[in-house]
Amino acid sequence: MSKNVLVTGGAGYIGSHTVLQLLLDGYRVVVVDNLDNSSDVAIERVEELAGELAKNLSFHKVDLRDRQALEEVFAETKFDAVIHFAGLKAVGESVHKPLLYYDNNLIGTITLLETMAAHGCKNLVFSSSATVYGWPKEVPCTEEFPLAAANPYGRTKLFIEEICQDLRRSDSEWKIILLRYFNPVGAHPSGYIGEDPRGTPNNLMPFVQQVAIGRQPALTVFGNNYSTKDGTGVRDYIHIVDLADGHIAALRKLSDPKIGCEVYNLGTGKGTSVLEMVAAFEKASGKKIPLVMAGRRPGDVETVYASTKKAEHELNWKAKYGIEEMCRDQWNWASKNPYGYASPNLN
Ligand code: NAD
Ligand code: UFG
Repeated sequence: MSKNVLVTGGAGYIGSHTVLQLLLDGYRVVVVDNLDNSSDVAIERVEELAGELAKNLSFHKVDLRDRQALEEVFAETKFDAVIHFAGLKAVGESVHKPLLYYDNNLIGTITLLETMAAHGCKNLVFSSSATVYGWPKEVPCTEEFPLAAANPYGRTKLFIEEICQDLRRSDSEWKIILLRYFNPVGAHPSGYIGEDPRGTPNNLMPFVQQVAIGRQPALTVFGNNYSTKDGTGVRDYIHIVDLADGHIAALRKLSDPKIGCEVYNLGTGKGTSVLEMVAAFEKASGKKIPLVMAGRRPGDVETVYASTKKAEHELNWKAKYGIEEMCRDQWNWASKNPYGYASPNLN
């Protein structure tokens, strides 16, 4: 019998791609999302891509902090596991509105965990972030590195990781996988779903994509005097479909009787600079990306990339795509949907 998975934040960037992969893999999926940072068009597109399997997907517009509404979702379906993406993620906004971040991310998660426990569902996959490594003393980052938070957003990830560890220590029925994502980019190869940030993008590739389609005049490069190959920041970019598949590997791992509360990096293990990423995107799109060199962005780190050994050995998962495919699929999505899900004359 196929398994029932609750996906919180399933209308968002990572959530929508993961929901599609889950459906294609034969899971039944229930999405809860308050659509604060996403569009229900993403869910419709996932349904189109899933074809026949779309019958296994249902969507509820629910805020995780709405205990009663969440309770109703759990009363309707017995879930085998929950993948918890729902949360706010803008680093800069979190500095200005810390209480919003603590309320949404922490209260939302606690309400979810309490409701799961009340319904006897104690299997969880949680979206953590490489941000918990702070400015690492060395790279690649292994899961055992010391952790640090540079802003309220990062602190919510650290707190939730700790909450999950405490929960497991208190009750061995809990099985929890904390996934530390590096930098997800790109889109589904169909160009039907992708990242659609509200307002001016904070992250590199959504910004680059907007320069390519003429919505922004130039990319501001934040810092070109780092001790890196070309002076610009180095990150571990991972194709969104690889990242989505990592969640299926994590779900499978939850049925391992030895699992308690485990942490895994999801990255490629390769570091790419801003200028290398821009060059790859220019090649994939045939568009010139004008650059403006600027100072470092406060809070940015120099070089971060993942050690992928633990995920490879224990989850039996490894990223398949490189930056060429990431840029190709990012451009395919951007050129088909220049205004994201609000684009006219879609595809
Ligand atoms: P996203 O904003 O596209 O998706 C998050 C979704 O959660 C959105 O659809 C939003 O409407 C929903 N949501 C937020 N608060 C909610 C609430 N209280 N109740 C119900 N729904 C709510 O972001 P994403 O990039 O898909 O990220 C998903 C998760 O992965 C987040 O937890 C994020 O912090 C984490 N993460 C993202 C990145 C990245 O670079 N994209 C990196 C590391 C970790
Ligand atoms: N950058 C620019 N110009 C821009 C945007 C970014 O030069 O307009 C540079 C940054 O300085 C950095 C690199 O591009 O060197 C990547 O920046 P992103 O904002 O795309 O990604 P970050 O690594 O800074 O942070 C992202 C998420 C965090 C998450 C972290 C690790 O925003 O929430 O990845 O997963 F914690």
